[in-house]
Amino acid sequence: MIRKLFTNGRIFSPLDQGTPLAGELQGRVIHFPRGAMCVCNGLIEVVGNEEEVLKNPVCRRIDLEVDCRGYCVIPGFVDCHTHMCFVKRREEEFVQRLEGADYLEILRRGGGILSSVRTVREAPDAELHAMTRRHARAALQLGTTTLEIKSGYGLETASELRMLRIIGQLGREMPQDVVATFLGAHALPWEFTGNPDDYVDLVVHEMIPAVAKEGLARFCDVFCERGVFDAGQSRRILESARSWGLGLKIHADELHDVGGAALAADLRVTSAEHLLRSSEANIRAMARAGVTGVLLPATAYSMRKEYAPARRMVELGLPIAIATDCNPGTGYTESMPFVFGLSVLNMGLSIREALVASTLNAAYAVGLGRKVGSLEVGKQADFLLLDGDSPAILAYHAGVSPVVEVYKQGEPVYSC
Ligand code: NIG
Ligand code: FE
Repeated sequence: MIRKLFTNGRIFSPLDQGTPLAGELQGRVIHFPRGAMCVCNGLIEVVGNEEEVLKNPVCRRIDLEVDCRGYCVIPGFVDCHTHMCFVKRREEEFVQRLEGADYLEILRRGGGILSSVRTVREAPDAELHAMTRRHARAALQLGTTTLEIKSGYGLETASELRMLRIIGQLGREMPQDVVATFLGAHALPWEFTGNPDDYVDLVVHEMIPAVAKEGLARFCDVFCERGVFDAGQSRRILESARSWGLGLKIHADELHDVGGAALAADLRVTSAEHLLRSSEANIRAMARAGVTGVLLPATAYSMRKEYAPARRMVELGLPIAIATDCNPGTGYTESMPFVFGLSVLNMGLSIREALVASTLNAAYAVGLGRKVGSLEVGKQADFLLLDGDSPAILAYHAGVSPVVEVYKQGEPVYSC
């Protein structure tokens, strides 16, 4: 047994209520101006004001004491939506978009997601693994201690399984907790042009059973979008995934409202992601259905689209999480500090709401709310030291990471 005492930190943390935090609770954060934390075998045993913590009898049996030097201490970020398992960047496509090309039009002509599919299918395992690891490593240095990674650049059974195995392997190698999501319905592969329902059959009858039998993913996601998968096809896939015991996510209303958010509410999925075009009625329906809205402001930023109406969503009681969406097409960043800043400055979340969105609510969005996402007794001691007085530094010191140190289960895993 190893017991560590962390002293002299300005601690800020959401307060877990057993469900994602919505409405007024979205901004409920506890603050200990001079806080301390006792960590035993990687789990938080005591946390609070330093004076109180030091009175606790367990603090007489400490193996190691760490001075947090007055830095701001927050839970490690949970990046709950990424596509960082890919091999080749698409810088040219980015430049084409800057010059006016349309993202879905590029996809329709066989580029975009499909160009990533070509390179992933051809790449040796070692290359795919190395590139994904690079992204996960960058995320760690930017404070991400829990990470979701989607498949979706294979779009044939063997390649999808290969991606998920590599994602699983990374989870065993990296300090982060890694959650794998199966996204076989990310685009229609060229072999099925004109026959989307046949591809949906393949996803339902072959891919999902194989993923579930091998235990390769915790969630299944679908890109429900005009010209990609419609609401009916998305429903078939998600209902099948549910019957195989997978959790459900959906890319909904990213570029057009084709019924994604309505479906999310109807199926009571764990999380609906993007939501740039969602109607107020559907936001209310998702709130009633217990769905978490995962907002990806770096994508709106990179696509130069209007941001999701985050303020209104909080008012309507939809719990909000934020994530990077790290992918080679619509938004290439591993930086949760960047996303935090965008969510405050461009989506109107308060600092406290953004903290809850990037930690506890994001943890619930990947099914790990009971384990990570807040600095409370019984949770994993996953936390960051920030060079600032409060989490406001994340939005204030723009374009720079204030992350000084990263701890996973009480162990230092990065120091700048
Ligand atoms: O979340 N929208 C679908 N998937 C990603 C983009 C993936 C890509 O362009 O490679 C997204 O925006
Ligand atoms: Fe995405």
